[in-house]
This record gives sequence, C-alpha cells and structure tokens, in this order.
Amino acid sequence: MQTPKLFDNHGRPINYLRLAVTDRCNLRCFYCMPKEGIKYLPKRELLTFEEIERLITWLASMGISKVRLTGGEPFVRTDLMRLIRKISEIEGITNIHLTTNGILTGPYISELKSLGIASVNLSLDTLDRERFKGITRRDEFVKTWETFEQLISHDIPVKINAVVMDGKNIDDIIPLVELTKEYPVSVRFIEEMPFNGEGNHYPTLTWTYKKIMDHIRVEYPAIERELDPLHSTSYNYKVPGHLGTVGVIAAFSRTFCGTCNRIRVTAQGTLKTCLYDDGVLNIRNLMRDGHSEEAIKIELLKAYSARSRDGFEAEAKRMKGSPIKESMSTIGG
Ligand code: 5AD
Ligand code: SF4
Repeated sequence: MQTPKLFDNHGRPINYLRLAVTDRCNLRCFYCMPKEGIKYLPKRELLTFEEIERLITWLASMGISKVRLTGGEPFVRTDLMRLIRKISEIEGITNIHLTTNGILTGPYISELKSLGIASVNLSLDTLDRERFKGITRRDEFVKTWETFEQLISHDIPVKINAVVMDGKNIDDIIPLVELTKEYPVSVRFIEEMPFNGEGNHYPTLTWTYKKIMDHIRVEYPAIERELDPLHSTSYNYKVPGHLGTVGVIAAFSRTFCGTCNRIRVTAQGTLKTCLYDDGVLNIRNLMRDGHSEEAIKIELLKAYSARSRDGFEAEAKRMKGSPIKESMSTIGG
C-alpha cells in the first residue's frame, strides 16, 4: 500500500522528483556554463545507479510518483538506459520524464517509447545552426533536430525548452512559436536565471515573461491563454489552429512557487527543496555512512517540513548569503 501523499510545511504535496544523473555535459550553453566548462565531480562522488534506485524506491513510498532525469546531459552517463529500465519497475513511479539536449538521444528513442516514457524536454534555443553554435559553443544542431523529429514520429510528448537571451536568440522567438503550427509540440520560453557558473549576465533581466509575451502578441494577436495544468510552472497559450502550444516560464521572476510540488536531487546526492537553495541534506553521505532507511526517511521528512515558501526566501537563506553562481549542470536543469 502506498503511503498517503506527504505535504510540506506550506501545505504543498511533494510528488515530483527531479534527479540529476550527472553534472557532465557535451555542450557548453552560454546560460549554463562558462566556455571553458565547469570543474566536474570525480565519478566516485556521483550517486551510483544502485543508490539512485534505492533512493527513488524510498521516495516513492513517501509519495513521489513522477521522476524527471536531468543533468548535465543525462545520456553522457554510461548506460543510462539501464537506470531508466530499473526506475520504470519501481512501484509507485507512474511517470518518467527526461530533459536532454538530444545529441546522444536518437538511438534510444524506440526503447524509451516501449518503456512508456511520459515526455521528453528537449533543450533547443534556436532553429538556426549558426546561432545554435554560438549559444552552445558546439556545432550539434543537426543531431538535436533529428532527435526532435524522431520523438514526434514516435508520438512521444515533446516540450522544447528555449532560454530567452538578450542579443542571442530573440530572432528565434517567432520561428519557435511557428513550429507549433505543424508540430504537436509545447514550446516553452524560459527566463534566464543566474545559474551559469558565473553569476548574472545582465544587470537586470530584460526578457521577462511579460516582455516575451508582448513580443509574441505583436506577431500573433489572436494567441489565447490555455488552462494551466495543476503545478504547471508555465503560463500556457495556443495560437488558434496550431497543433502545439506555447508556454512562458518565469524562472527568474518566480511566480510559480505557490504550487511547487517538486524536490531536486543533485548528481552528488544533495537534496534541494528549492531550485534557489544551496542544498539542504546530503543523502549520499547518509547512505554511504550506513544510516538505515528509516533514519534517512526521517531526515527527508525534516527537510520537507522546513521548506522555504518560495525561491526568494530560499535564496535569502543560502549559506552566508552566498550569491548564486553554480551551474545548472550541477543543480540539474
Ligand atoms: N536559465 C534558465 N534555464 C536554464 N537551464 C539551464 N540553465 C539555465 C539558466 N541559466 C534550463 C534550460 C535547459 C535545461 C537543462 O535547463 O532550459 O533546457
Ligand atoms: Fe548542457 Fe543543458 Fe547545460 Fe546546455 S543547458 S550546457 S545542454 S546541461
């Protein structure tokens, strides 16, 4: 029997785990890493597949039913499919999602489909090969695009994540919306956050969710607001007659915290109860120090019950007020 849903100290159910399987990546996206990359963790610091499986089994018994695997780039981790197969067998896990840049994903799409993957989020900030090279510092647009087409032809629900960056991909906003005409895809524009290994790129964020929508409305005045699914982090829209939808994620403005149902576990096994906190519990150390399942669950419950109300509170509570400058690749995108 499954434990009843658990709630945090603000009455929010916690049923969604985002787990980074690696901090490594085969791209160097401008908004995620400096061009020389970040210092990667030694392999022994990563949760092993067995540790991940154990942890997800415990979390499932505490109410987690949805898991998203992220990174870094998840497919850079050797034998990722073995882990996905294992997770798909865990009782209580009903939805497995993936966030990937698509470069290494192609060969696994059929198996992902047969395992019943719930959706794939593809990081794709531009439809132009040269701009892709400029943003990601690698010439891999073609592989990502092939993965997109294959996901669509396998009928796997696809979301495109496009981070909106001043001076980099503003000219892509409209073509990305246009993609929803022919493809049943959800294109989501994301406000840039300061998780790039360096700190803020701009003194203030110019491309806020409001500005992104105003820009889209000039071209598509008829765009309509959709009903947002429960716990959605995006404001959702649809151009009448288009197959797909458009979303805007106020990741920097943080308008969605009130209904946040998610926790994160970084590649080294640190629990984050908010994207903006700097880690509240190292689960890997507890596991490796031989603490029992019960003891670790108690620590997890304590962390659940001390969650910040929102991303602003979590940011203010960071250790010694340390400013944000970790890479999204270590946090888990
Ligand atoms: N700001 C906003 N989104 C980011 N991502 C990574 N870094 C940032 C950032 N600084 C998101 C991208 C990518 C996913 C892995 O994480 O959408 O698709
Ligand atoms: Fe890699 Fe994703 Fe970070 Fe880009 S955003 S460098 S694809 S982890």
